[in-house]
Parts: sequence; structure tokens; C-alpha cells
Amino acid sequence: MGDTILVTGGAGYIGSHTCKALAQAGLEPVVYDDLSNGHAQAVKWGPLVQGDVRDRERLARTMSDHKVVGVIHFAGLIEVGRSMHRPDLYWDHNVNGVAAVLSAMRDNGVARLIFSSTAAVYGTPAGLSALSETDVLNPINPYGDSKLAGERMIAANCAAFGMEAVALRYFNASGADPDGELGEAHDPETHLIPLAIEAALTGSRPLTVFGRDFPTDDGSCVRDYIHVADLARAHVLALGLSTVDQGFEAMNLGRGQGTSVLEVIEAVGQACGRPPVYSVGDRRAGDPPILVADPARAMKRLTWKPEISDFQTIVDTAVAWRLNRRFGGITTLPAAA
Ligand SMILES: NC(=O)c1ccc[n+]([C@@H]2O[C@H](COP(=O)([O-])OP(=O)(O)OC[C@H]3O[C@@H](n4cnc5c(N)ncnc54)[C@H](O)[C@@H]3O)[C@@H](O)[C@H]2O)c1
Repeated sequence: MGDTILVTGGAGYIGSHTCKALAQAGLEPVVYDDLSNGHAQAVKWGPLVQGDVRDRERLARTMSDHKVVGVIHFAGLIEVGRSMHRPDLYWDHNVNGVAAVLSAMRDNGVARLIFSSTAAVYGTPAGLSALSETDVLNPINPYGDSKLAGERMIAANCAAFGMEAVALRYFNASGADPDGELGEAHDPETHLIPLAIEAALTGSRPLTVFGRDFPTDDGSCVRDYIHVADLARAHVLALGLSTVDQGFEAMNLGRGQGTSVLEVIEAVGQACGRPPVYSVGDRRAGDPPILVADPARAMKRLTWKPEISDFQTIVDTAVAWRLNRRFGGITTLPAAA
């Protein structure tokens, strides 16, 4: 049996795909998740410990019981919009969660951490070019604030206690396990691709394009979609990284190419055999026209590159997962697909 890795939030979307990648690499994932937004059915490659990531004692006990040698910390709250209304929850779960993870790691002599960070740490970029890690960090919502605070707390712990950590700043995680075992099943769903799929297949959820007057080719926002299995693989590689910069490194994970909202809708329509019904609404506050990663640092430091993040594969795997989904909150199947 390989080394044991604690995966907080491992019952969630990106965490469950990462557990599969860990198992494929010969490592043993132990999932620690309160199942507030995850699925027990997604925990297939090791044990599930149901607990709150802010529960320091429980975390420490779990690390010791399972002889954990490294931690991947996904657990947290993820909806940007909700963070504007309930910043208290975001600071509590996302920042106190990191504090508890670090404290339990120190107690157990666990020195290696991979942290789920986000493009939201950059806020609204001044320009339209791809974002690199040296760009200004200026979050514009409590979600991004809480993630940046987590990064900084981790960096300080690395410097002070000799830990090693990598913060992976994901752009838009998307797609589903190519074997169809896992996929995106958030409730509520706020991500464009699953919403567009629902709109195409059932029409049950209204789809709104927020703004068509951006300075982009078709006037809609452009985002960088990266396949969740490519993200998962990067976590396994990051576990083996020999860090520099006082033990803490941050890197962008994206494809380095943008896809517009209207291109997403078009591709989903083709994959589903019928177009999603949508309306055009006003721009949302703080929505940048273009958010695309420069993933050069991750490519170099992790010897990683996106392998199945071409947009067609992302959409095809997401649609296949939706049509054959084995868990999740959406039970209405389409009359025809
Ligand atoms: N999905 C994206 O596009 C994206 C982009 C950037 C960053 N991220 C980050 O990646 C991580 C995973 O995102 P995801 O899309 O897989 O979300 P998800 O909601 O599917 O997974 C998060 C998991 O954490 C668990 N959780 C939440 N609060 C918890 C707590 N207090 N204690 C224990 N478990 C708790 C949930 O039950 C869930 O299983 C998050 O930290 C998120 O901020 C996601």
C-alpha cells in the first residue's frame, strides 16, 4: 500500500476526481468531508471520515489514525455570490478550516500540503491578457478574500515551521471523469456548463447570459475551462514537488485559452442535440470580460500540461455524466436527448 493522503472535501467535485488520480498513482486517499455539498457515493478509493474541517481535534485524530503523510485541502464553501451575502460563513469555513488543517498537521508532524486556491484571488484584472502568478492579488468578494487569506496563512506556516505547500489556483474546473464514474453535482449549481446542459436537456433551469457588451469577439465573457481530470493529475504531481520560496509556491491551473459564454452554449447545444434556452441579462458587478490563466509556471514546475482539456472533451464528458449520472440532486431525466 502506498502513502496515505488526507483529502479534505474529497467527496466533492474536484476532490473526488483527485482521489481517483491518487489511487491510480498508488497512493491511498482518506476522505475527510462533512458531506454538506459532497456525495458519499463519490468516495470510492479509500475510507470516508465524516467531519467538519474546522474540528481541529477530529482532524488531528484522523491524521494520526491513518498515518497520513500529506494533505490536500479542498473542503470549503465555493459560491462567490453567496459569499457576498454571508461573508461570515466564508471566513469561518474557509479561513478557520485552513487554520485547523495546519494545526492538526503540526501536531502530527505532517509537512506537505496542497491547497485549493482560485483565480478569484486576482479580482478584476486591469488588462485582458493571460494572468500570471506575479499579477496583482486583489480579490473583490469574500470568497476570494478567504482563499487569499488561506494562502497567506499557509505561506507563513511554511516559513515558520518548515512545512511545504503548493497553492493551486484553479480557473474554471469543468467536465467529468472520462470513465463516467464521477462528475459535477453541486447543489445549488452555479457553474455555466452544467447549467447550460440542464437548460438544453430539461429547460427546467433558466439560463442567463450576463452581459453581451463586453470587449470580446462575441460580446460575452471569456473564461478558461480546464478539465477536472487534468486538475486532479496536477495535485498528484504537486505532492511530489520540491518547493522553493520558503516552502510555499502558488501556481495557476488553466488551459491558457479562453472560451466565451456563447461558445459554451453553442457547444453544449451540439453535444445535447438541442440548444439551451437562454436570455441575456445585465452584466454582474465585478465580472471581468476575460479571465484566462498563464499556466506556464505549473507546466514547468510540475511537468504538467492539460491533456484532455480541449473544449469538446470537456463538454462531451460533462454531458455523458449528466445523462448517466449515478448521484446528485437532479432527478428529472430528459424526455429525449
Ligand atoms: N469548481 C471550481 O471551478 C473551482 C475553482 C477554483 C477553486 N475551487 C476550489 O476547489 C475546492 C473544491 O471545489 P469543488 O468545486 O470540488 O466544490 P465541492 O463543493 O464539490 O467540494 C467541496 C467539498 O467540501 C465539503 N465541505 C464544505 N465545507 C466543509 C467543512 N466545513 N468541513 C468538511 N467538509 C466541508 C463539501 O461537502 C464538499 O464535498 C474548493 O475549495 C473551491 O473553493 C473550485
